[in-house]
Amino acid sequence: MPDPNATESMLTETRRFAPPADFAARAHVKSMAQYETLHARSIAEPEAFWSEVASELHWFKPWDTVLEWNLPDAKWFVGAQTNLCYNCIDRQVDAGLGDKVAIVWEGEAVGDGPGGGPEVLKLTYHDLLGRVSRFANVLKARGVKKGDVVTLYMGMVPELAVAMLACARIGAVHSVIFGGFSAQAICDRVEDGKSKLLITCDGSWRRGKVVPLKANVDQALTMTDRVKDVIVFNRCNAGVPMIDGRDHDWQTLVDAAPADCPAEPMDAEDLLFILYTSGSTGKPKGIMHTTGGYMVHTYLTAKLTFDLKADDPDELYWCTADCGWITGHSYILYGLLPNRCATLMFEGGPNHPAPDRFWDIIERHKVTKFYTAPTAIRAFMKWGDEHVEKHDLSSLKVLGTVGEPINPEAWVWYHEKIGGGRCPIVDTWWQTETGGHMLTPLPGATTTTPGSCCRPMLGIDMAVVNSDGQEVPNNTGGILVCRKPWPGMLRGIYGDRGRFVETYWSKVPGMYCPADGARIDPDGNFWITGRIDDVIVVAGHNLGTMEVESALVSHRAVAEAAVVGFPHEVKGTGVAAFVITQGELPEPGSDAAEQLKKQLIAHCGQELGPIAKPDQVRLTTALPKTRSGKIMRRLLRDIAAGHEITSDVSTLEDKGIVETLQRG
Ligand code: WTA
Repeated sequence: MPDPNATESMLTETRRFAPPADFAARAHVKSMAQYETLHARSIAEPEAFWSEVASELHWFKPWDTVLEWNLPDAKWFVGAQTNLCYNCIDRQVDAGLGDKVAIVWEGEAVGDGPGGGPEVLKLTYHDLLGRVSRFANVLKARGVKKGDVVTLYMGMVPELAVAMLACARIGAVHSVIFGGFSAQAICDRVEDGKSKLLITCDGSWRRGKVVPLKANVDQALTMTDRVKDVIVFNRCNAGVPMIDGRDHDWQTLVDAAPADCPAEPMDAEDLLFILYTSGSTGKPKGIMHTTGGYMVHTYLTAKLTFDLKADDPDELYWCTADCGWITGHSYILYGLLPNRCATLMFEGGPNHPAPDRFWDIIERHKVTKFYTAPTAIRAFMKWGDEHVEKHDLSSLKVLGTVGEPINPEAWVWYHEKIGGGRCPIVDTWWQTETGGHMLTPLPGATTTTPGSCCRPMLGIDMAVVNSDGQEVPNNTGGILVCRKPWPGMLRGIYGDRGRFVETYWSKVPGMYCPADGARIDPDGNFWITGRIDDVIVVAGHNLGTMEVESALVSHRAVAEAAVVGFPHEVKGTGVAAFVITQGELPEPGSDAAEQLKKQLIAHCGQELGPIAKPDQVRLTTALPKTRSGKIMRRLLRDIAAGHEITSDVSTLEDKGIVETLQRG
């Protein structure tokens, strides 16, 4: 009989890491007991809890009601007025902190910094106020009004932050498109958001080359005539053609704009931004976030997850995400600046000019809190420890990860090599839709286990349930849900009410369903087992594809792995593994290749039990990823099944890879 609790044997990592005592003593939350008391109270009295958090920020008008909840519609801080840009900037300037550094920007080294080195710009809160106010006046002069959608398609220059904050200042709704997306993606999003104004750059620097942003915009705008004005920031001196009447030079407009622009009082539930995220099928969803709740949630989570210290003059936080993703919105800008901390933004890639770029930046700027993705960590592991070892990383205090599960091997490497064994790691689970962190360790309180994102954030009521909404026993796989509304929750999908209800509120009655599977271990820690659609049922067993991946990458010959199901005659679904090898790829079909495949199959059997043994192993040099770094599992499923490729591969970074995988 197949054991329905097969996942129980799958805890491959049992090491525990307690917060260092001296760190805990100074942290906002100092112990597990304190966390548990705070969390219990935040769930029992959510309105009191969230209104206390909100009171730490600036409101033009206080709320009448903390929460109005008509499932699936939440209204937070009803009747209140605030402005997120004001809370990011003016509140600090008003408190006499105008000279404090708000943004540290490091450009890709293109030889124009002092001595040909990297180009660095530091903006104080006062500088930022000036730049944002002027640009807000530029937008107003072009006719942008409260509620209008402004599209941003820019590189990681400070002007991107300025443009986002300027929109928030006047109540315009920004829709940021990641600079790696194509003309078609720009066109689709402009159309969906009915956006009349677009802000871009001539290009952006990435690994010594210019990404042709303006050319992509020009191409997109041949497919839609919605956009009337394009503002172009000149980053690369690319000499791009400008269309008379439509295209305007950023600097010329800014130079002519008045310096003063008061922040617009916004209703707490006024739309703040839309951000597109891909769904399981069809066109991207424009996730809607509103002003007050999103502000309060990102402020609190940034503060607690990274243990941010406004009064520490050395505090310098760095999140390596792009502002085109939710991580950049929430944890480069909006959660950080209201915490009165300095946030570092960088342009370019992690391995240009050399594979030590991140460690070099951390050493030179003395970064204290660092937040990146497991994929990046695994890439650094592969590039070799020597790039890390030549740098002094002793300024670091907390390390974070986001976006995908981190396999225990990468976690331990991050902890030892980057954190010197002394920095707590926060593995943060959340989504574009949740606005901010939902599950995460708190660095001064939580004893962590590599691979687990540990506990719910304060005020967040997460559980693992079956499809009736009943909690499942410990160590049993189930559906991850949030049972209560929270301030940063999405308020809808732009222009598609039906899809909002169907996608998030129809799988489990009365609860928010993010479409991730999870289990809770006997210590109360959450483990994400993969997207619900990535769970495969092999011979009657539920198997999290991510758990098999984790087992594979624990083998010394494996750098990265992706696992999918494919139709199998006997088992219903078989397990297919796509594996990037550590070092050189053995010749396809050679003895060495076949040997290695056998070893990997045996290794999975050992780590997880026989049911998890892959039926197919394909060795490769790369995995098909979208530009946002997500593995295209649909494509892998087609390849594993030997089907014709039906997936849209237009968003693939490297198109030649499909053939390599088929041969694999
Ligand atoms: C996955 C990124 C495991 C998950 C902030 C989620 C994670 C989706 C983690 C959201 C994590 C994110 N451990 N899985 N720490 N963080 N995910 O919208 O499947 O780009 O549903 O938001 O990424 O991706 P999104």
